[in-house]
Amino acid sequence: MAEGKPFATPHRDRFLLLVSTPEQIEELAVESTRKHSKLSSQGIMVDTLNPEFTLNAKKEDPAGFIAPNLLKHKIRKHLSSMYLPMRWTVEDAFRKEMKGKPLGDGWSRVPLCYVANRITARMNNLLLVGENLASNPTFFESSIQFVTDATITLAFFNHIPKILYRPISFMTMNWSGGRSKAKSLLMSEISKRRSESSEEQGLYKDCMQWVIESSRDKSTEYIARQLLSLTLGGAHQQPMFAAFVLYNLCLHSEYIETLRAEIHTIRDNEFDKLNNGTPYLDSFLREVGRLNPLTNIALPRKVMSPFTFADGTYVPKHNWICVPHTPLMTLPNAYSNPETFQGFRFVDTEGNRSTSRFWDMSREFPFWGNPKTGCPARYFVSLNMKMMAIHFLESYDFRVAKQAIRPTFSYHVLEMPHPLLAIEIRARKPEA
Ligand code: HEM
Repeated sequence: MAEGKPFATPHRDRFLLLVSTPEQIEELAVESTRKHSKLSSQGIMVDTLNPEFTLNAKKEDPAGFIAPNLLKHKIRKHLSSMYLPMRWTVEDAFRKEMKGKPLGDGWSRVPLCYVANRITARMNNLLLVGENLASNPTFFESSIQFVTDATITLAFFNHIPKILYRPISFMTMNWSGGRSKAKSLLMSEISKRRSESSEEQGLYKDCMQWVIESSRDKSTEYIARQLLSLTLGGAHQQPMFAAFVLYNLCLHSEYIETLRAEIHTIRDNEFDKLNNGTPYLDSFLREVGRLNPLTNIALPRKVMSPFTFADGTYVPKHNWICVPHTPLMTLPNAYSNPETFQGFRFVDTEGNRSTSRFWDMSREFPFWGNPKTGCPARYFVSLNMKMMAIHFLESYDFRVAKQAIRPTFSYHVLEMPHPLLAIEIRARKPEA
């Protein structure tokens, strides 16, 4: 509707300036990746996660000191060695969490968001803190509680003046004890690892170890806070997306046969086959992301000092610049029938090659953020979501529950699955 012209929309105490032409998105992406850029993703993190209150971080602390590109490199490099523990975690997570109210004839009604939240938390913990701590039930429950407390706190912040942030967060972040319990378990594990030899430490392939290595002289408490920050960041989009994937599998039963047949071809489930040899599943995930982009803005950057685009558009300090998510994901010249769900639209006509992988980034698919950098965890998320979808397809019959609610729920910039969304499942009989 803006015909490519930038426009600003008020959002709490700032404006969001939305740009959408290829040239201005390129300018935004290039400026964001420049050293000492005027535009900051860290600034967005501080504005949205309020680490001073949710993490008890000092005001002058950087929001994260593990560089996203180092994280991306480490995750990609170690993904194949994390593959088996990831599979066991998915199986274990489904066994423990995929439960609901019995309906008779083997079916039960499952609260989708609750279950997706707990399954993905188990998977994230494996990446963040490794097998030992991730399998500790006290750590799991306290990390979930911490994320819940922080989400409630941040929701309060949307409705109260800044002067009340400290007293409110003091109550909401301390009442349950989730944060302090999770932090103390993180600190014990960090101290234990720091006392081990470099050979022993070399065996850990998780974010905790990479943060320890890149922090050297930082205190144990500071490292634990970084891991809490990653826990909070990682708990944001993945559960919402997982819920949308499971919901869309229930909704679009016409794709199930092909997806199950594809899974059959990777029966032995080798890492490389799953990572690179499932074009139909890759496409299905990408299509779910295209029509459920989770946020209605993408690539947000905070203006740290006044920024002027080449066309003269001037953006004062403190505001955010971003791109509109859904309009780009439904551009008619990039996607035919853009409003229609076509689960296999990213598979070539012979059906054996992906034309775009789920983790690929572009202007017309800003799901992973800046096309030049993007989410450092996207290879992990992609593998995770495939494993989760495969386990679901193989282990259950499923259908959408009858409900008089919209499947999505809008809150500020979020377009999330409706918190009351439910599906119905039944254990699948093993094939003869
Ligand atoms: C469906 C799931 C996810 C989506 C859609 C997603 C999306 C994004 C996006 C859009 C960005 C901003 C990138 C940019 O504009 O440059 C980002 C950054 C990031 N994500 Fe993800 N993400 C997901 C899951 C995760 C998980 C599970 C983790 C970690 C466990 C994670 C860790 C990070 C980190 C560390 C950053 C960098 C923040 C910075 O710039 O400092 N993400 N993600």
